Amino acid sequence: MLRNKLPGIGTTIFTVMSKMAQDHGAINLSQGFPDFDGPQALRDRVVYHLEHGHNQYAPLAGVPELREQIAAKILDLYGCAIDPDNQVAVTPGATEAIFCAITAVVHPGDEVIVFDPAYDTYEPSVTLNGGVTHHIPLLYPDFHIDWQQVHDAISDRTRLIILNTPHNPTGTVWSEQDIQSLRKVIADRDILLLSDEVYEHICFDGKEHLSLLRYPDLAEKTFAVSSFGKTYHATGWRVGYCVAPRPLMADFLRIHQFINFSTNTPLQHAFADFMRDCPQFHRELSDFYQNKRDLFCELMGSSHFSLRPSGGTYFQLADYSAISNEPDTDFASRLTREHKVAAIPISVFYKHPPDQQIVRFCFAKQDDTLREAAGRLVKVRGQG
Ligand SMILES: Cc1ncc(COP(=O)(O)O)c(C=O)c1O
Repeated sequence: MLRNKLPGIGTTIFTVMSKMAQDHGAINLSQGFPDFDGPQALRDRVVYHLEHGHNQYAPLAGVPELREQIAAKILDLYGCAIDPDNQVAVTPGATEAIFCAITAVVHPGDEVIVFDPAYDTYEPSVTLNGGVTHHIPLLYPDFHIDWQQVHDAISDRTRLIILNTPHNPTGTVWSEQDIQSLRKVIADRDILLLSDEVYEHICFDGKEHLSLLRYPDLAEKTFAVSSFGKTYHATGWRVGYCVAPRPLMADFLRIHQFINFSTNTPLQHAFADFMRDCPQFHRELSDFYQNKRDLFCELMGSSHFSLRPSGGTYFQLADYSAISNEPDTDFASRLTREHKVAAIPISVFYKHPPDQQIVRFCFAKQDDTLREAAGRLVKVRGQG
């Protein structure tokens, strides 16, 4: 008899909706990936390294040149000096980094706090390690954290809090007030932090990304995770990284070595070259995506969806309560079948989905794709 280790968990919504989009010939604004390539200069460096003998196992923690570039960027942006030899691990995507960090520190019976709607890898990674997730809903309509609830949820069993700013799917970006509140709730407690910062370079309206690496007292308890896929329009390359204090990184690497051992070698060399030669790329990414957010929101202005402009990430939530009161999974499915635009229903990111009519659109798309999609979405009207 097979005993399922993740009962109740099926195929991820991203795979489900992308397949539905394909089956129905819909524009895919569901799964989060660009419909354009990353910079030519970066792709050229991949070819260069493929042709120049960088085709065998990389070191366990990643190629030194890339770890040095990551450390240099973190010093430049967040004023945090990390040791590239002992505090960085390059991983096959942020997904693996999240799994390794959780596996490194969560023991059976440990409690982990997550905020709903939560990215869908957190809970299964905790469950597989025998941990228990404690879900705290972000508060509608701006999806902020209720820190009193966090305070009340913390117990002696709380081992880890998983944070995500800028936040997928809501686009919420942390404020200094959140940092102060976090500091307060974990004061004098043996609680670690997993800071999912994969959208660190996509923050809008002049807001700065508040990486936990900016705050030495928090950084010393933090696994900070990022993704080259998000930053360089290359989600399919599967390269991300984790930064942590030495003892946490040592535990992290003990896990990582038995999951993937190391990460794609030529890609790591290419990223190292590109980060060294084109540091402006990540600095300009917020403006690049803010233009797309603005275009999408403007195009949707005459629709019956209601949009609060996203504060960061490449996602935009849309409230469709003026169109229908269908559950969001039904609505997203109908939108794909009948109107040929695929979106993500956000209820799937909740333990206890609230009664709300909201779907998520990905605007990491060429402007023409956004125009075509919005042209279809403005025609979606209520039945009544
Ligand atoms: C919040 C969040 N964390 C982690 C990931 C995973 O990143 P990667 O594709 O590098 O594994 C994603 C990807 O969509 C994400 O949105």
